[in-house]
Amino acid sequence: MEQAFSFQKFPCRETKRLILRKTEKRDLQDIYEMYANEEVVKHTPMDAFITREDAWQEMIWHWEIYTQQIGLRWLIEDKESGKVIGSCGYLNYLKEHSRIEIGYDLAPSFWGRGIMSEAAEAVLDFGFNDLNVNRIVAKVDPRNKASIRLLSRLGFMEESKLRENVFEKETFSDLYLYSLLRSDYMDRYPD
Ligand SMILES: CC(C)(COP(=O)(O)OP(=O)(O)OC[C@H]1O[C@@H](n2cnc3c(N)ncnc32)[C@H](O)[C@@H]1OP(=O)(O)O)[C@@H](O)C(=O)NCCC(=O)NCCS
Repeated sequence: MEQAFSFQKFPCRETKRLILRKTEKRDLQDIYEMYANEEVVKHTPMDAFITREDAWQEMIWHWEIYTQQIGLRWLIEDKESGKVIGSCGYLNYLKEHSRIEIGYDLAPSFWGRGIMSEAAEAVLDFGFNDLNVNRIVAKVDPRNKASIRLLSRLGFMEESKLRENVFEKETFSDLYLYSLLRSDYMDRYPD
């Protein structure tokens, strides 16, 4: 399948309440604050950030995956406050298989207000209509109820349990594999 997006100009997006945009140097403090919160990283492979250098490394990763054309990460800016409140995007792009993985994190004070649903809809639209992939996967810790609800709400289907798939927080953890196919998405959003 032909990839329409060329990884040249970063694809900013705007939704009702949010701006999805490229990571800039000025975002260091907001990114640090979000990922220094244990609640944000609890069900992810990340450890809570301790220093601003940790945030800087995260930012470098955002820039590198884009340069290497293996993913892209948007920062989620709250239109009302101008503050960066989360991030979302794609990793592990396999162009030859037209497949990519979605990921997202949000600052806890914004949870439960439909923010990530709103951002993820724009991210999925980009995935299927601009990047033109056939399959989007998500890997989620079975204890991460909010993320599982979000994926279900977006139309993802649970495929399998990857048993003791990751060693994180001093223990082996299972991950559920979820997927959304282009055909599922087109059935759901025919226009
Ligand atoms: C997962 C996360 C991004 C959800 O963001 P959010 O903006 O709060 O999600 P939304 O408000 O759009 O809600 C999506 C669904 O999850 C449900 N939900 C939200 N928080 C929940 C919670 N704590 N427990 C159970 N369900 C929850 C909502 O009710 C909604 O389901 P519904 O449509 O059936 O009502 C957010 O909790 C987060 O950043 N968690 C920490 C980082 C993380 O886990 N990242 C993902 C790793 S796989």
